[in-house]
Amino acid sequence: MSKLSPVKRTTFLGFQPPAVGDEEVEAVAETLRSGWLTTGPRAEELEQRFAAYLEADHVVAVGSGTAAMHLVLVALGIGPGDEVITSPITWPATANVIVHVGATPVFADVRDSDLNIDPACVAELVTERTKAILPVHLAGQSCDLDPLWVLGLPVVEDAAHAVESSYRGRKIGGLSDATCFSLYATKNVTAGEGGLVATNRADLAEGVRDLCLTRRGDGSVYDVGVPGYKANLSDVLAAIALVQLEKVDRHRAIRERHVAAYDAAVAELDGIEPLARDPRDTHAYHLYVVRIDPERAGATRDEYQSALAGENIGTSIHFLPVHRLSWYRERFPGRAPLPVAERAGAEVLSLPLSPAHSDADIQDAIAALQAVHARFT
Ligand SMILES: Cc1ncc(COP(=O)(O)O)c(C=O)c1O
Repeated sequence: MSKLSPVKRTTFLGFQPPAVGDEEVEAVAETLRSGWLTTGPRAEELEQRFAAYLEADHVVAVGSGTAAMHLVLVALGIGPGDEVITSPITWPATANVIVHVGATPVFADVRDSDLNIDPACVAELVTERTKAILPVHLAGQSCDLDPLWVLGLPVVEDAAHAVESSYRGRKIGGLSDATCFSLYATKNVTAGEGGLVATNRADLAEGVRDLCLTRRGDGSVYDVGVPGYKANLSDVLAAIALVQLEKVDRHRAIRERHVAAYDAAVAELDGIEPLARDPRDTHAYHLYVVRIDPERAGATRDEYQSALAGENIGTSIHFLPVHRLSWYRERFPGRAPLPVAERAGAEVLSLPLSPAHSDADIQDAIAALQAVHARFT
């Protein structure tokens, strides 16, 4: 394809369309026909299959990634007066759940290379009130866990982007106190909505299991040991996720190919650079995030985003710094300056990446990016 004269797509290229097919449709139909719609045999099978895949002792299926993190914080007994250190470069849910339990989110700056939480910044923010650390594996690159573990606090990983990730040869899932996954529509393994808590701690697994229902008990006799949040995963959704998990390696191969195509193209574009990936780790390739340096790339991220939309190419932003969003800005004056996160928040742009994209789709995105870059520089 010519570098500077792409043919504009006649249809809009969605940023992250779900890769679901007839198998998922059939699995849902079968579940509906089975008569068991709520949490049941399929959710249980999903938990077992994920426990094996993630190499974790326990997996609890819940209603969302947000619920997964929220219920873990509740199960850890975190509440008012406590602080939890997290990353500002994340989806707001990561901070919201800290607020939901009545604790205070404390944002630590990120590393310039991969925009994952900077352990040195975390260490500086630990006080006697700190009750947990909630790091994020941004885009599928695992963050640096060893220097977080040595701080001796519970670590709850936000692994919404990290289903296939490993950290120094060990699968993300059973490494910290708890690891939370999302099955949201765009995720590498999706159910449309859903989440998972993986843990090797039987007490946390049990705690989350109790909290995700309203009550406990079999048959007509029931009891309330703890007022639950009703955040369980239905079998209808579990059925979709079971098929998606079967496809995870096949989908990964497609993502890998798309990422390689982007890497080759972006290497030629001055001022546009992908986030760093650590060769010691397995990256989940959930997102392909580039940073756009307005000086060298000739325009801002926002200008690139609208120019690409003009070429019928959908993009997204991962992420705007959470502490800059209205609710947080007004209530949580920063404990520490976050210069790296703030600069990154204005520069990051995520390019289309899904196994539902064909190679030609990705070539369209690349050609549009090349054309827009040529126009701006
Ligand atoms: C980094 C991150 N954390 C948490 C979540 C929340 O997951 P869910 O939408 O399943 O609640 C998301 C979802 O997009 C996310 O990207």
